[in-house]
Amino acid sequence: MTFDRAKQILEKHGQGHVLRFWDALDAGERAHLLDQIAGLDFASVARMQALLTSKAVAVPASEPTAPEVVELTPDARAKAYAAGEAEIRAGRVAVLLVAGGQGSRLGYDGPKGAYAIGPVTGRPLFFFHARKIVALCRRYGVRIPFYVMTSDVNDAATRSYFEEQNYFGLDRNDVIFFVQGMWPALDAKGRIILDRPGHIFMSPDGHGGTLTALAKHGCLEDMERRGITSVFYFQVDNPMVEIADPAFIGLHMSRRADISLKLCAKRDAKEGLGVVVEREGRCEMVEYTELTDEQAHRRTAAGELYFKYGSVAIHVFSFAFMKAEADKALPLHIAHKKIPVCADDGTAVKPEKNNGYKFEKFIFDVLPDAKTVVNLAFDREEEFSPVKNASGSDSPATCKRDMQAKWLRWFKRAGIQMPAHACGVSALPLEIDPAYALDVTDLKKKGIALTGE
Ligand code: UTP
Repeated sequence: MTFDRAKQILEKHGQGHVLRFWDALDAGERAHLLDQIAGLDFASVARMQALLTSKAVAVPASEPTAPEVVELTPDARAKAYAAGEAEIRAGRVAVLLVAGGQGSRLGYDGPKGAYAIGPVTGRPLFFFHARKIVALCRRYGVRIPFYVMTSDVNDAATRSYFEEQNYFGLDRNDVIFFVQGMWPALDAKGRIILDRPGHIFMSPDGHGGTLTALAKHGCLEDMERRGITSVFYFQVDNPMVEIADPAFIGLHMSRRADISLKLCAKRDAKEGLGVVVEREGRCEMVEYTELTDEQAHRRTAAGELYFKYGSVAIHVFSFAFMKAEADKALPLHIAHKKIPVCADDGTAVKPEKNNGYKFEKFIFDVLPDAKTVVNLAFDREEEFSPVKNASGSDSPATCKRDMQAKWLRWFKRAGIQMPAHACGVSALPLEIDPAYALDVTDLKKKGIALTGE
């Protein structure tokens, strides 16, 4: 991209100010800025501007209802589990991790997946994810491809971290990194924000960027080549996730679902989890902020919350659905944020108030396109304790507590005595490498070996 071409494109889109510090930039800064301009997706910028200036009053949507949520009986679980195992054993299951976020609430300087979460060893989030895949590959004698979405914010650091850690024991040929898109932020007038004289402020385009990024980087073709039919999707911050849970995959397969979601009972009416609802025969996700007070607090005759379940972003996609959705433009979500800006004299300013708009796509916006959606209820104490905040709820402290409580239950069920306080909390720090024991059945086998019984 030349300067003249960049100027022409920017002016055509009303963004000529992006080059206003050109004369003061050195050669490196100029080259970098031209690269950034070449990468801008002006079609998306136009959609952002339309959203920003939209005066349209939202048409009142029809009243949502609670969807069917499957609670598996022991028999149904065993059947689904066997079907899921067959699918994994046949090499038709891939694992997809979205790890391109900025983790700003945690405030950790590095890829969130490198955050130390092991209560004993301080092993990182990535360790617990990768070692589950190691265990699954061994158990089922199969190669399971692990697709890891990064963003420009953390791509190089994530790749080198996996390299340093020897891929946690995974075959490096089966760990496929791909980078999501980055989007500029806009000011109230729809102008692209510079945070330095030669630099456009960019941030990841949201986890909804996964599908286009998979397509762009050849990952869908790779999945096709490998004969993948089901893709297990999860987020980096939850080390308790049961990766490729066979019962979940089996249920998804047996219902021929396009997408399946694991849902857990919300802690309370206002917990910040998305809620799957049904409207006009289609499923959609409603953010907790979008439920009215009446909807959030509504109760059934039995006294339970009517919209009882929240989504924790654990999904299975059918490959065919994922591929079909990759071409579609997902809706944009707008957020008013504090965005570092470059003042007219070229100095960088950290604003005290929200001064600009970021835009993101959300993966769950594919839901209304799905013909069949399966919602599976799960027990949150077994599978969900995310690391979102530096302290308080959903923090490293609560996550370590919940992981250890789960492992303590495993020991108990495996018949292995562990010292515990009267309140049920382990008296010793506990940690289990998933490649040592993926579940209580594995632990039982090890327990027998350990005690020699
Ligand atoms: P969150 O919504 O928790 O965002 O992402 P975050 O960036 O990790 O953290 P905050 O909000 O800045 O504190 C949920 C999951 O989606 C991924 C994250 O890496 C995490 O696994 N994600 C989010 C992406 O991969 N890309 C994005 O653009 C946003």
